[in-house]
Amino acid sequence: MIYYFTGTGNSKWVAETMAAKLGDEVSTIAEAKTADGDKIGIVAPTYAWGCPGPVGEFLKTLKTDGKYVFFVATCGSNCGMYDKQVAKLLGRPVDAFLTLSLPNNCIQLGDCEAEDAAKAKFAAAKPILDSFIAKVEKGEKVVDVVRGPVPHLLTYVVHPAYLKFATSDKPFSVDIGKCNSCGACEKYCPVGNIKLVDGHPTWNGNCAQCTACINRCQNEAIQYGKKSATRRRYHFTEDLV
Ligand SMILES: Cc1cc2nc3c(=O)[nH]c(=O)nc-3n(C[C@H](O)[C@H](O)[C@H](O)COP(=O)(O)O)c2cc1C
Repeated sequence: MIYYFTGTGNSKWVAETMAAKLGDEVSTIAEAKTADGDKIGIVAPTYAWGCPGPVGEFLKTLKTDGKYVFFVATCGSNCGMYDKQVAKLLGRPVDAFLTLSLPNNCIQLGDCEAEDAAKAKFAAAKPILDSFIAKVEKGEKVVDVVRGPVPHLLTYVVHPAYLKFATSDKPFSVDIGKCNSCGACEKYCPVGNIKLVDGHPTWNGNCAQCTACINRCQNEAIQYGKKSATRRRYHFTEDLV
């Protein structure tokens, strides 16, 4: 079983690519199905050099005794000490860990990548992922981590501060004049935090900061604070790979 958490589709693509090649199944973390078989995989984005809050909660409950466990941390560029954080949450190190650089969806901080740059990232990521899959298939031990600068500071100081102080959904807003009530924001929110009221999104205090709502809104009707209006959106589409 390969469990995944995704906002904008990168981690879902990785989970499904791995499952197709390994002959395995995928499940979202929210609807976690029981894992049969001798391998368990988890694919999740990197949020502030560690794992998304809901993924952390999931890892604390996951039973992995006697199983080969692999983890892919998708990210824009680097993931700090994410692998060590995962080991702590699981109560054991994973057998295989990969940092995979894919298009950055962190619109809270800046522009997302343009299509050409996004395509180049997938082109670079594919052979890395294929090589990782081959090792997972053989049950090999792998640690292929891109930590970036000052990883301890970022994962052990900045990441907890991010979880505590920077996961509010209050900065999200909708421009009702632009919203066409398509419901994509509600549909793609991986934690069920968005409900349409009178046809428009409301955020209900349980946000993972995944950016699915803002990045998947086809009319760019959703904003984060005052600076996102002019920022480029991103979400995964098959034509990027
Ligand atoms: C709140 C937030 C924090 C992020 N932090 C990092 C980070 O610390 N390092 C990094 O390289 N990418 C970071 N990213 C980028 C995502 O990890 C990356 O785009 C990921 O592949 C998105 O996965 P998804 O499409 O499955 O949601 C961040 C994105 C968000 C929304």
